[in-house]
Amino acid sequence: FRDGLMPHALLSIDQGTTNTKALLVAEDGRVLAYGSSAVPLDLPRPAWFEQDADVIWASVLDAAAQCLAAAPEADVAGVTVSAQRESVVAWSRSTGRPLSPVIGWQDGRTTEFCARLAAGGAAEEVRARTGLRLDPMFSAPKLRWLVDSADLGHDACLGTVDAYLVHRLTGGAVFATEIGCASRTLLLDIRKGAWSPELLELFGVAPELLPEVRGSADGFGVTAGFGAVPDGVPVRAVLGDSHAALYAQGCHTPGTAKATYGTGSSVMAPADGVDGFSDRLSTTLAWQLTEPVAALEGNILATGAALETTAGLVGADGGESVAALAATVADAGGLVMVPAFAGLAAPHWDRGARGLLLGLARDTSPAHVARAAIDAVAHQVCDVVEVIDEESAPLTELRADGGGSRSELLMQTQADLLGRPVTVAATSELSALGVAQLAWSAGRGDAGPPPAPVARVYEPRLDAARREEARAGWRDAVRRSSGTEARR
Ligand code: G3P
Repeated sequence: FRDGLMPHALLSIDQGTTNTKALLVAEDGRVLAYGSSAVPLDLPRPAWFEQDADVIWASVLDAAAQCLAAAPEADVAGVTVSAQRESVVAWSRSTGRPLSPVIGWQDGRTTEFCARLAAGGAAEEVRARTGLRLDPMFSAPKLRWLVDSADLGHDACLGTVDAYLVHRLTGGAVFATEIGCASRTLLLDIRKGAWSPELLELFGVAPELLPEVRGSADGFGVTAGFGAVPDGVPVRAVLGDSHAALYAQGCHTPGTAKATYGTGSSVMAPADGVDGFSDRLSTTLAWQLTEPVAALEGNILATGAALETTAGLVGADGGESVAALAATVADAGGLVMVPAFAGLAAPHWDRGARGLLLGLARDTSPAHVARAAIDAVAHQVCDVVEVIDEESAPLTELRADGGGSRSELLMQTQADLLGRPVTVAATSELSALGVAQLAWSAGRGDAGPPPAPVARVYEPRLDAARREEARAGWRDAVRRSSGTEARR
């Protein structure tokens, strides 16, 4: 760091969809303290997902306070932030108070708007400039919805959750977004690393409403009014949550990839540049220190959500109980579940798809349904990995993190259906860790930490013929769930 002193710890915030975590991370990557605060998610209408930005900010203060209380002797030498991506909010530039709900990344209210733009021929241009599908998951259609529908007033600004948090952490002094988060908005020209005037016009978003785009560790001002953290502590780095997990997993070269198992899942692999890929996956900027680093990503809408929904169906108490129930049978008894609750994202991109359970029989039991849900999580991750194999370098192993990576049955099933080892990280809080590690590395100017410590490696046990039979059954079920089939 510039003053030559080795600061003691970074307070690293990971603001996710269901909770905010805070870690104190020492320079050698040790986690000195931990705090966590839940964030509710509202579903005011079918396919609408909203959160309250004031509640999100309160959860950041709460998680940070817990963390600092657990290590009162720590010298907080900087703050780092990883944040949920694609979700957007409008807020007041002068007060920092929200002027709209946060519209979540899963939100589908702009499906028709996107379909109209696509029908007018915009999808190609959007893909060419941004590396992304013209899909309601990304930010721009939601920003347009806010412009049209929210009462913005005279001093409104718009942005993703990272920009909102930076503005609040700095007491309103800094209005900036990180380049990797910006690359998920459908508004960033990924070759130029700047907002695209053509796309701002296409989506009807005025550039003056948007934050400045900065590199991941360019500095995002200093704290002002951030709870128990003294004023003047530098905000050293910001990353998208999935990108931070990729960094912590040590996936820096094509042929490596990570899967984060949460409510949905993100399968992400580093890429050599942003050109040459199809639209089955997103091409994204993962982070930028000196040069931008590209990545391929497939987002799956329902993985943990598949287990939660199954819990309701079979009368189990949450996703972990579903996994335990699934482990009581040897297989799903011929049952296949496609959890297309809000359609399917990567690599199928079929918002019209509907969830289905195929192969119900007289002797189907709740345990078979639970097992089919576990299989569905693993199959969806395989679908993305197989496209990464084709379009980038074939994967030799998959690194896993997130809550679902704690399920032995899920991880073994994943290795079996993938036919490759699955390596589970020892900590599931990789996003907060990754952005802190990036800040430490940027300060030292080195190549980054070694891959995250491993808890366990799952080796595939299924023979090739049975694996292919299972994959063929899944592909058949996905075909049957498609929007086109459903309308017949
Ligand atoms: O793309 C959405 C993702 O960044 C949200 O992650 O962990 O909050 O579900 P998470």
